[in-house]
Amino acid sequence: MQLMLNRKVAMITGSHGGIGRSLVQVFAEQGADIYACVRQTDEAFEQWIRELSDRTGRSIRSVCFDLTDSEACKLALQEINVRQTPIDILVNNAAVAQGSLLHMTSLKELRMVFDVNFFAQIALIQNVSRQMARRRSGSIINISSMAGLCADPGSLAYGASKAALNHATRVIAAELASFNIRVNAIAPNVTDTKMLDHMDPTVIEKIVARTSVHRCAQPEEIAKVALFLASDLSSYINGQIIRVDGGQFF
Ligand SMILES: NC(=O)c1ccc[n+]([C@@H]2O[C@H](COP(=O)([O-])OP(=O)(O)OC[C@H]3O[C@@H](n4cnc5c(N)ncnc54)[C@H](OP(=O)(O)O)[C@@H]3O)[C@@H](O)[C@H]2O)c1
Repeated sequence: MQLMLNRKVAMITGSHGGIGRSLVQVFAEQGADIYACVRQTDEAFEQWIRELSDRTGRSIRSVCFDLTDSEACKLALQEINVRQTPIDILVNNAAVAQGSLLHMTSLKELRMVFDVNFFAQIALIQNVSRQMARRRSGSIINISSMAGLCADPGSLAYGASKAALNHATRVIAAELASFNIRVNAIAPNVTDTKMLDHMDPTVIEKIVARTSVHRCAQPEEIAKVALFLASDLSSYINGQIIRVDGGQFF
C-alpha cells in the first residue's frame, strides 16, 4: 500500500514534546523524511530518532533552535537549505502553556506567550512558505487549541494566542492558496502530555466532563489528524480549524 507521505519532507517544531514525538513517529511511519525541531537535544532523543530512522528507513534529523530567537531560527533554515531537501510540510507544534486570571496576568507574561505561540509561528511560516511558493506546493499545519475557541476563565494569554493563530491560519490560507499551499489548524482538546502538568487538575476534570468520550486525547490521536491534513487525502481542505475535541458540544 502507498504510504501517505511517501518521500515528502516535513519540518516539525516541538518534536521533543508529547504531541511532537507522535507527529515525528506517525509521519516517519508514513514515509516522510523529517527535520525534528527541538529547543535542545539530548542523547535519549538522538537515540530515539536513530531507532525510528532505522525502523522506518527515513531520514530524521534534529534541528536545535529556540523559536523566539529569530537569528537561530534563520540559521536552522539555512542549515536545512544547504541539504537541498525542500520542506513540503511544516507543522507548527511547539507552544507554551500559561494559565491565570485577568488581574493575575502581567503584560510581560502575555507578551511571552504571544512571542512563542503567535509571533514565532508567523515568522516561521513567512520563511518556509517563501520556498513553498517558489515550488508551488506545500501544506502548513498549525497546532492550535480548543482554548482558542472556548472562553474558559484563566485562559486569557494562552487562549488568545491560539485564537490569533486560528485567525492567521484562515488569512494565510486565503493568501497562499494561489501558490498551491494549504494552511490548516488543529484544535485539540486536553491531551495526555506534560503540558497538562501546567493545568489545574480540577480544570482538566471539568473539560473532560464536557467531552462525550469522557477522556483526554492521546498524542497520536492528534498526530493522525495532522497526517491527514499533511497528505493529499485532504487536498480540498484549506483554511480550516479542525476541532479534535472528543465530542464537546458546548
Ligand atoms: N496537551 C494538551 O492538552 C494540548 C491541548 C491543546 C493544544 N495543545 C497544543 O499542542 C502542541 C503540543 O503541545 P504538547 O501537549 O505536546 O506539549 P509539550 O509536551 O509541552 O510540548 C511542547 C513543546 O514545545 C516546545 N517549545 C516551547 N517553547 C519553545 C520555544 N521557545 N522554542 C522551541 N520550542 C519550544 C517545548 O520544548 P522543550 O521540550 O524544550 O520544553 C516542547 O517540546 C502545542 O501547540 C499545544 O499548545 C496541547
